[in-house]
Amino acid sequence: MKSIHIDLGKDSYDIHIENGLLDRAGEYVRNLTKSQTLAVISDTTVDGLYGDRLEQALRKEHYNVRRIVFPAGEKYKCAETLLQLYQELSDAGITRSDYIIAFGGGVVGDLGGFAAATFLRGVPFIQIPTTIIAQVDSSVGGKVGIDLPSGKNQAGSFYQPKGVLIDPELLRTLPLRFIHDGMGEVIKYGCIHDIALFELLERLDDETIFGHWEEIIERCCSSKARLVERDVLDLGERMMLNFGHTIGHAIEGCYGYGYYTHGEGVAAGMAMLTAVTEDMGLTKAGTSDRLRSVLKKYSLPVDVAASADDLFPYISNDKKMRGNNMTLIILKELGQGRLLPLKAEDLPKYIRKRGSK
Ligand SMILES: NC(=O)c1ccc[n+]([C@@H]2O[C@H](COP(=O)([O-])OP(=O)(O)OC[C@H]3O[C@@H](n4cnc5c(N)ncnc54)[C@H](O)[C@@H]3O)[C@@H](O)[C@H]2O)c1
Ligand SMILES: [Zn+2]
Repeated sequence: MKSIHIDLGKDSYDIHIENGLLDRAGEYVRNLTKSQTLAVISDTTVDGLYGDRLEQALRKEHYNVRRIVFPAGEKYKCAETLLQLYQELSDAGITRSDYIIAFGGGVVGDLGGFAAATFLRGVPFIQIPTTIIAQVDSSVGGKVGIDLPSGKNQAGSFYQPKGVLIDPELLRTLPLRFIHDGMGEVIKYGCIHDIALFELLERLDDETIFGHWEEIIERCCSSKARLVERDVLDLGERMMLNFGHTIGHAIEGCYGYGYYTHGEGVAAGMAMLTAVTEDMGLTKAGTSDRLRSVLKKYSLPVDVAASADDLFPYISNDKKMRGNNMTLIILKELGQGRLLPLKAEDLPKYIRKRGSK
C-alpha cells in the first residue's frame, strides 16, 4: 500500500493506492468519518461493473449506502445532471454530517465533487477514481465542475476531498482507448517532473505496464501533489501540468471535440512543441526523439495534419493567455519542465518547426 499526504493546512488529505483496495474501502472510509449514511455517486458503467462490490465493502462497516447513478459520458457532466443529483441527494436525506463518494472516472469526480461542494453549501466527499485520468490527475487537486453549452469546465470551484482511494486493479476493465488517453498524461508527468518514471515507461509496454500501476500512479500523484501544494489556486507553478495542453487543446478543438481524445491531443502537443524547442536550442538535444518513441509505444500520435495556421485560432481563447502575454510550458530536458513567458504573437513559431507545414 502506498500513501501520499497532500498538505493543504486544514484542507489536507491522504491518497491511498493499493491493488484490491475496493474491497477494503469500508475500513478506509471508517477512518475518515463516523457518519451513518454515504451517498455513492457513479455512472452506469462503473456502477454496473463495481457498484455492488463497493456497496458490500461499505456495508461491512455498517454504513447506510445510497447509490446515485447517472448515464456514462462527458455529455452528462452538465447542469441538468447536477440538478438531478441535488434532487436525489435530497430524496436520500443526505445532510452535512453525511459523506458523498464520487466513484468513477473524471466525469463522475468533477460532477460528483461539484455536487458535494454545493449541495447544502458543502457536504464532505471522498474520491474513488476508476480511470487513469481520474487516478493520476482529476481526483487530486480539488478542481470540480461541470461543462456549460458555452464551454468545458466553465462552472466549478475548488473543493478538496477528505480522502482519495485508488485501486489500480479497476483499470483492468478500462477500454484500450481510455488506457491510451490516460497514458498521454502519465507520460507528461515523466516529462515535466520525473525522469525515473519516464525511463520506466520506456522499459514497459501496453501489456507489462499492468504489473506497475501502483508505482506509476504513486509517482504521478506525488508530482501533482507537490505542484498543487505550492500553488493551490493554479496561478503559477501548477501551470507546469499544462505541458502539451496549449497545442493539445487546439488540436482537440480544431478537429471537433471527440476526434482526438484529450490524451491524444496532449501527446501530439508535447511532441510538436518539443521538436520546435529542441530546434531552437531551448531543449536538450535528443529529447524529442525519446519522447516520440515513448508516445508511439503507447499508440499515441506525435503529430497531426493541421497546420500552425489551422491550429492558431483555437489557441487564442486558451485560458493560459493573459492579455497579450502567455506562458508556455517547455522541457529543459526529460524530467524537467519550465515556464516560458512569451508574447501571444510569438506563439505560432512554437507550434511547428520552421519550414514544416
Ligand atoms: N478536475 C480535474 O483536475 C480534471 C483533470 C483532468 C480531467 N478532468 C475531467 O475528467 C473528464 C475525463 O475523465 P475520464 O477520461 O476518466 O472520463 P469518464 O469519467 O467519462 O470515463 C471514461 C469512460 O470509462 C468508463 N469507466 C470508468 N472507469 C471504468 C473502469 N474501471 N472500467 C471500465 N470502464 C470504466 C466510464 O463509464 C466512461 O464511459 C473530463 O470531463 C475532464 O474535464 C478533470
Ligand atoms: Zn490534461
